[in-house]
Amino acid sequence: MTTQRKAYRASILHSIADPKDVGIEDSYEYFEDGILVVENGHVVDIGDAVEVLERQPKTLQVKEYKDKIITSGFIDTHIHYPQTGMIASYGEQLLDWLENYTFPEERRFKNPIYAHKVANLFFDELASNGTTTALVFGTVHKESVDVFFEEAEKRNVRMIAGKVLMDRNAPDYLVDTPESGYEESKELIEKWHNKGRLLYAVTPRFAPTSTPEQLATVGKLLEEYPDVYMHTHLSENKKEIEWVLDLFPERDSYLDVYDHYGLLHKRSVFAHGIHLSDCECKRLADTDSAISFCPTSNLFLGSGLFKLPKLEEHGIRVGMGTDVGAGTSFSILQTMSEAYKIMQLQQEKLHPIKSLFLATLGGARSLHLEDKIGNLEVGKEADFVVLNMDATQLMRFRMQQAKKLEEKLFVLMSLGDDRTVSETYIAGEKAYDVNFEQQKKLVS
Ligand code: GUN
Ligand code: ZN
Repeated sequence: MTTQRKAYRASILHSIADPKDVGIEDSYEYFEDGILVVENGHVVDIGDAVEVLERQPKTLQVKEYKDKIITSGFIDTHIHYPQTGMIASYGEQLLDWLENYTFPEERRFKNPIYAHKVANLFFDELASNGTTTALVFGTVHKESVDVFFEEAEKRNVRMIAGKVLMDRNAPDYLVDTPESGYEESKELIEKWHNKGRLLYAVTPRFAPTSTPEQLATVGKLLEEYPDVYMHTHLSENKKEIEWVLDLFPERDSYLDVYDHYGLLHKRSVFAHGIHLSDCECKRLADTDSAISFCPTSNLFLGSGLFKLPKLEEHGIRVGMGTDVGAGTSFSILQTMSEAYKIMQLQQEKLHPIKSLFLATLGGARSLHLEDKIGNLEVGKEADFVVLNMDATQLMRFRMQQAKKLEEKLFVLMSLGDDRTVSETYIAGEKAYDVNFEQQKKLVS
């Protein structure tokens, strides 16, 4: 962790409120020539360069990023690290995709050596895409989560993860039992929750793969550990929904299954929520549960079009998720680009400043971590990215015609990806540098 005070000079843009509450103009701060000052892993000053220099010691070390833009690290509110190796698997919708591709790949995580190899690659991908916090699925294997947290701890990243609970409707090689799932989750919570920057999420895969007995153990864990997260899937695919209603005929809706077992609370995050009724939306809002919007996944699996305005009208907190490996990119910029297109298909607009909010502060709020991450206010953890608006020839050419900040930001989101991320800082320390990576490739 950086104990020494360090400063970074660039254009600085960060989200400070939800545009739906305050309007676009008051929802962000932008310093065209700004300085961010970091000490002990936290932001200690931010503002216009001239003003910051006046109030900081004359000895302050300042690193200059000419023509670059600094923003807070991206937050991915739903992703599966064990699916890194089967991203881009052809031809199926959710249930067949799970059976044909996902389960066989997840089986490999019984082997901690393989799990470690994938975890390493996964964290490298997050860093090179500017993602500094994620809410992450492991597999049913306890070891997969130990390995994940060990690597996260080494890298000092703020991560939330959990062991998958799954005791039916999956291959024999990939199921636990209500008892073993409960015991192993407990052990993992005791070991990792609140260790440094790490947090635990109790993670039932989705209603069809847990028996009522197992769902009851999830409710019990949440009672015993009220500050852990609950992370699962909800209302993603029409066949999935029919299946849930067949499996739980006594329940009113898909959400009602989770509700019945006490799985809805302020730290519950449900991925997808594409086909929710008004009643379900109301219940999500009443329980302060959050939804992760995963556009590349929703398009890739043909799941449907996410109704952001409807969820927001109900007052539900929404963050962005890549949902790799059903999602097709680790890049939150690319994810925003697909989110924009999903809104377009429904005659809705997604303003780039709103996108920035969803990718950063909105994500932090949906995880109730906005006191720690999500923007670069003084006191927050210093997770930030340095973006290069001219990363490709096409971007450079297009940017020449982009006059206003929001136009530049929109081009950045539409054309940008990992090539746009120059550097990523985690708790004030550099975790990724595009130049260093290029040199590494040249040497190897
Ligand atoms: N529903 C249950 N499991 C999964 C999964 O691994 N990915 C997605 N997208 N949906 C799911
Ligand atoms: Zn998922």
